[in-house]
Amino acid sequence: MSDSKMSRRDALLTGAASVLGFVTIPSSLDALRTATDRVVGTTLARASLARGDAGMSPAVAGGGRERIRFDTDWRFHLGHASDPARDFGYGADEEFAKSGELFAPVSHAVFDASSWRRLDLPHDWAVELPFVDDHGLTSYGFKPVGRAHPDTSIGWYRKSFAVSAEDLGRRISLEFDGVFRDCIVALNGHLVARNLSGYAPFAVDITAGLNYGGDNVLVVRVDATEHEGWFYEGAGIYRHVWLVKTAPVHVALWGTFVRTTVDGAKRSATARIATTIQNDSDADARCATELRMLDGAGQVVQTSRSDPVTIPAAGSATVDQAMRIDSPSLWSLDAPHLYTLVTLVTVDQREVDRTETQLGIRSVQFDPDRGVLLNGEHVEIRGTCNHQDHAGVGSALPDRLHAYRIERLKAMGANAYRTSHNPPAAELLDACDRLGMLVLDETRMFGADPEALSQLARLVRRDRNHPCVFAWSLANEEDGEQGTDRGARMAEVMKATVRQLDPTRPVTAAMNGDWGKGFTGVIDVQGFNYHIGREMDEFRALFPRKPAMGTEVASTVSTRGIYANDPARGYVSAYDRNFPPWASTAEAWWTAYLARPWASGGFVWTGFDYRGEPTPYGWPCINSHFGIMDTCGFPKDNYYYYQAQWGSAPVLHVFPHWNWAGREGQPIEVWCHTNLERVELFLNGARIAGAAERVPPNGHAAWQVPFAPGVLEARGYRGGRVVLTARRETAGAPAAVALEADRVRLTADGMDVSVVAAHIVDARGRTVPMASNRVTFGVTGPLAVIGVGNGDPSSHESDKDTWRSAFNGLCCAIVQALPERGPATVTAAADGLRGSVIDVAVG
Ligand code: GAL
Repeated sequence: MSDSKMSRRDALLTGAASVLGFVTIPSSLDALRTATDRVVGTTLARASLARGDAGMSPAVAGGGRERIRFDTDWRFHLGHASDPARDFGYGADEEFAKSGELFAPVSHAVFDASSWRRLDLPHDWAVELPFVDDHGLTSYGFKPVGRAHPDTSIGWYRKSFAVSAEDLGRRISLEFDGVFRDCIVALNGHLVARNLSGYAPFAVDITAGLNYGGDNVLVVRVDATEHEGWFYEGAGIYRHVWLVKTAPVHVALWGTFVRTTVDGAKRSATARIATTIQNDSDADARCATELRMLDGAGQVVQTSRSDPVTIPAAGSATVDQAMRIDSPSLWSLDAPHLYTLVTLVTVDQREVDRTETQLGIRSVQFDPDRGVLLNGEHVEIRGTCNHQDHAGVGSALPDRLHAYRIERLKAMGANAYRTSHNPPAAELLDACDRLGMLVLDETRMFGADPEALSQLARLVRRDRNHPCVFAWSLANEEDGEQGTDRGARMAEVMKATVRQLDPTRPVTAAMNGDWGKGFTGVIDVQGFNYHIGREMDEFRALFPRKPAMGTEVASTVSTRGIYANDPARGYVSAYDRNFPPWASTAEAWWTAYLARPWASGGFVWTGFDYRGEPTPYGWPCINSHFGIMDTCGFPKDNYYYYQAQWGSAPVLHVFPHWNWAGREGQPIEVWCHTNLERVELFLNGARIAGAAERVPPNGHAAWQVPFAPGVLEARGYRGGRVVLTARRETAGAPAAVALEADRVRLTADGMDVSVVAAHIVDARGRTVPMASNRVTFGVTGPLAVIGVGNGDPSSHESDKDTWRSAFNGLCCAIVQALPERGPATVTAAADGLRGSVIDVAVG
């Protein structure tokens, strides 16, 4: 069999010929890793282990890698931040006096957790709490977490699990993808980790402290008292936890780094692969690595075998290899081809570890005049900034919901995503890799202190193989430091940390002033938050060779389906008109950036509404109005502005709705977002005269139309021909609920979700634009409703019930597959209306 004909399965089963292998550089990455581990308090145990397999060398004992999702069957209880009696004695007992007795809930024999709530991760307890009208919580979405709310700021998680006697001799570790925040992890009564960051992943080796052939108790005390941002951040173990078992010799955590370069003619690419191998045994090990590069179809396209290298006991080494890939399928926004690198580690020719790394082959450059070049071609950044929470689930997003959000943004024409202002979930980046969305990956803490550098290093090590990540963001609006020499020195340390781990990508910082000072001298790409126009031009005149990008632009505040500001209810009109003093409309920023190609385009604040920052209002508003979509992902009208400007297909969107009973004869402002040349408007067949028929560049068409019930129709022309028509009809009274599911086939894995929208419709099936009927969702078969939402920024209804009032005609339920196959249905009922049911196959 020739290598190029090998299937993925063959590649996994057999060896393959070597290509370019050269071995063993001293591992500066390891030095950093050790520093990182020390900072987060996860000292890796290096105890000698009993041999698991008589006669076998300790390096080989114990079999290959298993990565087990450790999300199910946890117990949870709220604790208390100031009263030890309500915090399981924490702080009152002598926790740290005797090893193995760290706080009460760790004890098998004595502590009874049967009354604790059983749940699966990911979990955000903040989203389950009632809203509280406390001004101090404005930025955080009025959920009672913080110093003033000690009874709802601490969460205890507990999980019992068995480890088999056969596992003795393997290395076993836990990986936490994200815990908000400040947590203490105890295993069998011993402190095994302390982690501050609410966003950076962390891992801990628990090999020594496990009971093999017996039960183990893992307890995590999570303290969400302190905030890290000025937006809703959730509370709890809100991302996955993994139990990882390997042989003593294994690929280190985030130990594979693939760099690709594409030759000028794009006929071939070179992949340089650094593999850090950890030897956690008490004997030196003679190791080699075999690499197999698989294309998207699973065919092996190249292989490489390293020379053997001796890794000392309790040591590590990094093996460098390179391979040439002919006729590579490049990763691009329209065709995001992915390759998979299979890494095999052998000791004395026996395989001890095998990992898979997904990657893409592409080149990215920032040109000071032309902006971003992806594979040598210019790409204008059509980006959005986003926080990570969503309707119904808060910050605890099932994996599929990340993909859902990226799909919605893609459908709008967006090509870039900024993970403002923190490390994202790994699954978000997977979705961006798969769907073709560039990512500006941002750390949370700016600083040159060990904690900030550790968070940054963990971000870079975890994310550097993702083709979607095109730049690192070191900071956002650090007004105290961004313009100072001290700030520049700290930024330099951060940049050096990034460079050491990833020399391939530029660093930027999102600055809202002081351009040309402080950070500017350090970062590779100047970030501009807002301030379009004069300040940008002044900067350009002084720094013509410095690439730049709009790290935060726009942002219109608007409420879906609302057409007049209503401070009492906390709603803002959806015309592209209202914005905070530092910001601008969609039309203004996009026009300004189109006129400045050197500025690369930008990231709109924000793609989706998020909890907290209810600008321009406060209570009763609990979430932001910045989103182009609401918290559920329902589009506001500006969605179609961006779609018209950013997409290639013709767009014609006419608004507002046409239900203005009581305003007959009064003028209604009608807008069209379109990329067509000319629009004609008709009311009940009669043409409306208006100056705005020819659509201004990057603008919209507008008319004043005296209201009469009936049909408003827009006809869009290109080249003298009607290309599209769009209608708004006066809807009748609510008559039924109509369900529309994002997906009707789900995987029976206990994780997969479908977002099910409920429309309140009239007798003719038209959505009733102001309907607020209460919809009750139900399921049959292996499904569960895990959350509901309606996008109303002033709604105080629970996200965790199975009912929700419609907001301007719409609400939604997120339904999740149970780990069982079978037919299922989602139902929706509303008093006085015809209900609805849809079938979902869970398989
Ligand atoms: C920016 C800030 C964002 C958000 C936004 C609201 O200055 O970077 O996090 O607060 O303002 O307009």
